[in-house]
Amino acid sequence: MGDPLLLQKAAAVTRFDTPELHALIQDMHDTMTAMDGAGIAAPQIGVSLRVVIFGVGENPRYPDAEKVPYTVLINPGLTPLGDTMEDGWEGCLSVPGLRGVVPRYARMHYTGFDQFGNPIDRMARGFHARVVQHECDHLDGILYPMRIRDLSRFGYTDVLFPGQAVQDD
Ligand code: NI
Repeated sequence: MGDPLLLQKAAAVTRFDTPELHALIQDMHDTMTAMDGAGIAAPQIGVSLRVVIFGVGENPRYPDAEKVPYTVLINPGLTPLGDTMEDGWEGCLSVPGLRGVVPRYARMHYTGFDQFGNPIDRMARGFHARVVQHECDHLDGILYPMRIRDLSRFGYTDVLFPGQAVQDD
């Protein structure tokens, strides 16, 4: 947080299934895995392109976490399904050590492409919908603290959740 690149609108990907795109996604995957994140956007590793990856599988550290399918999502389009918003705690690999309560649409329709150019068209709800909204915000220069409405629910992870393992998004 503080890097101007994270505040930019990222550019659309125009060519799929290229060595450069596969290398970018591998780099993002390695970074997300090393930092134990639920998702990551290309601008977070210094590349201003509309590419996000996310996924939450079985993890013994987070037995209660909702599963999210591992997804490479390029040039995403998001449409809320209904007006219902839900509050939930979020963290971010670009805002380390902090958590905040962020309102997000409860249900989303999202589209885009994978790294080979195959179309993606899905409905998502709950944590899955939250992760997609968080990651795609990065492509428009929005970090989750900008969406916090109640700053009394924003703080240091180890103070808010002492002794707990908490995942960054
Ligand atoms: Ni983030």
